[in-house]
Amino acid sequence: MNQEIPMAIPDLSGNEQKYASEAVASSWISSIGPFIKRFETEFAESCNCDYALGTSSGTTALHLAVSGLGLKPGDEVIVPSLTYISTANAVTYCGATPIFVDVDPATWCIDPTKIEAAITNKTKGIIPVHLLGHPADMDPIVNLATTHGLWVVEDAAEAIFARYKGRLCGSLGNAAIFSFFGNKVLTSGEGGAVSCNDIHLKNRLSQLRGQGMDPNRRYHFPIIGFNYRMTNVAAAILCAQMERRDEILARRKEIVKLYDQQLATIPGIYVRTNASWATVSPWLASCIVNPDIFGCDRNELAKGLRAEGIDTRPLFEPIHRMPPYREAAKQRKTELPTTDRLADYGLMLPTYPQLSNDQVLFICERIREHGTGSNLQLPSRISCMQWLRAA
Ligand SMILES: Cc1ncc(COP(=O)(O)O)c(C=O)c1O
Repeated sequence: MNQEIPMAIPDLSGNEQKYASEAVASSWISSIGPFIKRFETEFAESCNCDYALGTSSGTTALHLAVSGLGLKPGDEVIVPSLTYISTANAVTYCGATPIFVDVDPATWCIDPTKIEAAITNKTKGIIPVHLLGHPADMDPIVNLATTHGLWVVEDAAEAIFARYKGRLCGSLGNAAIFSFFGNKVLTSGEGGAVSCNDIHLKNRLSQLRGQGMDPNRRYHFPIIGFNYRMTNVAAAILCAQMERRDEILARRKEIVKLYDQQLATIPGIYVRTNASWATVSPWLASCIVNPDIFGCDRNELAKGLRAEGIDTRPLFEPIHRMPPYREAAKQRKTELPTTDRLADYGLMLPTYPQLSNDQVLFICERIREHGTGSNLQLPSRISCMQWLRAA
């Protein structure tokens, strides 16, 4: 097999082109049009929420949500560092400070047992991220938030239709955000959404999203808002994606399961075990490379795979080590050992519905061949969690 395998290819094989063309033909290509209402209604229903508002991206959805909840300069928000930079940037856009808390070695999501120590009298909220489609342990997070009078915004950008104890992600906090970037489970190229159940919050978010315009007086702006609206063309594409959501999810689940089965047999490669209460929405398959057993490190493996046409991505570079945040994190003596270990050894692998089982097997075989671990006499197999805990 000699082929280029990218990290992601959007699956636009349903009515995407038809609906987008309909939007163009109707001339409703900006942020008013029938597909927007249809998408928002269907998406809210499928997240078991009363309301969903389409936005121009997951990042703008996050900024909108925290702004709508009243975040202001001087405030603090508790976030994981092992996530995409938007989670922290949305807090920073408001002049507030993201406070980084370590992740749980079992779920790779924010560790609820570490949150309380990070709460101060400036803390206003918590943004748990459902990383790589695995829900964060929400009950203790919501309980802590209730005890301390904080809001919770779920960052479900990577976890569309994931479930926590049977309940849909997106319906578990005060608000939730989603991303429809080209590599996500549902996509419109660029796009996002905020979901919530509170009519007052929904009305405020709606006004803020539309530049702050008075809903009862056109072109009168009593507050400063943003232009974070979704276009009718993006919503048209998403309506088509929604029609095939079960099919898309089922295929992604098969792919990630096959990866996990194969990778778990390679010495020195660990995969995350799903929590018993988690119904994962498989975004990107991922693994941890233990170089001492595998025989080479994550970066060497990625380079080797690249040479064979297989694209990969390191697991998120943690935000507390990025230039805009590292000085403040150092001053706060931020120590996130599990985050650091996952970030240094984790690798994300190509995952998209059109990837064939043969391609997944090919990728896993190439990974196996890069390791020398199969020649080693292993003392005993340890799980991903044991290895992370040993950090
Ligand atoms: C966890 C997380 N939050 C937020 C975002 C931001 O979404 P977008 O790229 O649509 O702005 C992403 C996107 O990759 C993400 O993975």
